[in-house]
Amino acid sequence: MKTSRPRPLRFPRPALLLLVFWLAALAGAKTDSPLEMSMQQIKKAYKDLVAGLDKPIETNKATYLSLAGTIKTSAMKARELVPEMAAKLPPDQQAAMVKSFRESMADFLVSVDALIKNIQDAKWDEARKDLSLLKSEMKDGHREFRRED
Ligand code: HEM
Repeated sequence: MKTSRPRPLRFPRPALLLLVFWLAALAGAKTDSPLEMSMQQIKKAYKDLVAGLDKPIETNKATYLSLAGTIKTSAMKARELVPEMAAKLPPDQQAAMVKSFRESMADFLVSVDALIKNIQDAKWDEARKDLSLLKSEMKDGHREFRRED
């Protein structure tokens, strides 16, 4: 007599995997805060400007100015916002933190203006130095005002 062997349980594996990844992505996804969005804009423009000023071409000056302008308008927006870290501080320390953040962003904007001026004057060495300064201001700003995940 022929015995029928139990059929192994079959899952539609690729579809199941996709579902698992999709659910995991959904669980991990969080929307960017307005400050994070401004920072992302600064990041992109900064990166493109570093690449452009590596071997600057006089005829590309308008492009460099537009990128530096994006850094400036995004930093101006950022200056008006409040870092997420503020909410983690005791209420009596929050105002001082926001004030200090705004001062640092204002200092950053002074460096951005110097960068714009040097691009206008085609002083490329100076402009590259300004970019390095922005980077070190970024590091200080992140150390001081960016929350630990
Ligand atoms: C070249 C300059 C800078 C670049 C490229 C940059 C880039 C970034 C990036 C990529 C993020 C993460 C955004 C995200 O999570 O989606 C971020 C976050 C942040 N950055 Fe910057 N940043 C710069 C300058 C600064 C400066 C000068 C400050 C402060 C004075 C600052 C303060 C912060 C803070 C507080 C956050 C966390 C956002 C939040 O709390 O909502 N950044 N930045």
